[in-house]
Amino acid sequence: MSQLIVEKLTISYSQSVKALDNVSLAVNKGECVGIVGESGSGKSTLAKVLLGLQPYKEGDITFNGNSIVPKKKAELREYRKQVQMVFQDANSTLNPKLPIWKSVLEPLDNFQEVKPSILNREETSRKELAMSLLEMVGLDAHLLERFPGELSGGQKQRVSIARALSLEPGLLICDEPTASLDVTVQKQILQLLKNLQEKTEMTILFISHDIRAVTFLCNKIMVLKDGIVVDRFPLEDLYHYNRHPYTKALIKAASF
Ligand SMILES: Nc1ncnc2c1ncn2[C@@H]1O[C@H](COP(=O)(O)OP(=O)(O)OP(=O)(O)O)[C@@H](O)[C@H]1O
Ligand SMILES: [Mg+2]
Repeated sequence: MSQLIVEKLTISYSQSVKALDNVSLAVNKGECVGIVGESGSGKSTLAKVLLGLQPYKEGDITFNGNSIVPKKKAELREYRKQVQMVFQDANSTLNPKLPIWKSVLEPLDNFQEVKPSILNREETSRKELAMSLLEMVGLDAHLLERFPGELSGGQKQRVSIARALSLEPGLLICDEPTASLDVTVQKQILQLLKNLQEKTEMTILFISHDIRAVTFLCNKIMVLKDGIVVDRFPLEDLYHYNRHPYTKALIKAASF
């Protein structure tokens, strides 16, 4: 059975704006699924609904067989442990007043019952714990005492990824995680996500307007246009003649 099932989800912000229109998708455990589409196609709306930040009336969402009902607080808390998010802007994730080591431990402090297997919490001090999390995302321990304002964009995004992964989520949702980074750093972050995904076998939902980023990382791709799923295919079918004209246009514009 699929880990995440979205069935016929429709989100209308107003009578004139249908951000998502009858969207369905199924994601199996360990898969990396890419959602690609231009600005305003409904990508972030989908991410918000999946995180329980945006209520929905039409459609069904189940995660590990349980229905996601954002109104129930206790269920939502349980769900939040398992579904983590990396946003485009790491500044919105990191508290500017907290040193990096405290920031990286925040999710584990919020969910003290979580004992991730990568960390031996009984025997390690809090700083050592923070250090192993930074190591996991390729950051040097000397950054522990710094504040977010003293890190580069790429370093801050690595800290956001470390935070998200500290809870060993079953599902990681990334919404344009590389969009505000320069091309070289984008590649490094994508490579990092790829390595971590291979190592941990977590499920990733990777949202981007950039079809190159999506095809680098994901083995299944879904194309959104004006809130409608216009195409979906496994990576190997990227150049299949049957691709939707909109997908073909995205591929052409990306000039692979
Ligand atoms: N809170 C809101 N209230 C009203 N309309 C909204 C709201 N949030 C998004 N929208 C509208 O819903 C549509 C989808 O927006 P969404 O943010 O999901 O797109 P997106 O694909 O993430 O775009 P981008 O690539 O620019 O981030 C857009 O038309 C947007 O203007
Ligand atoms: Mg968006």
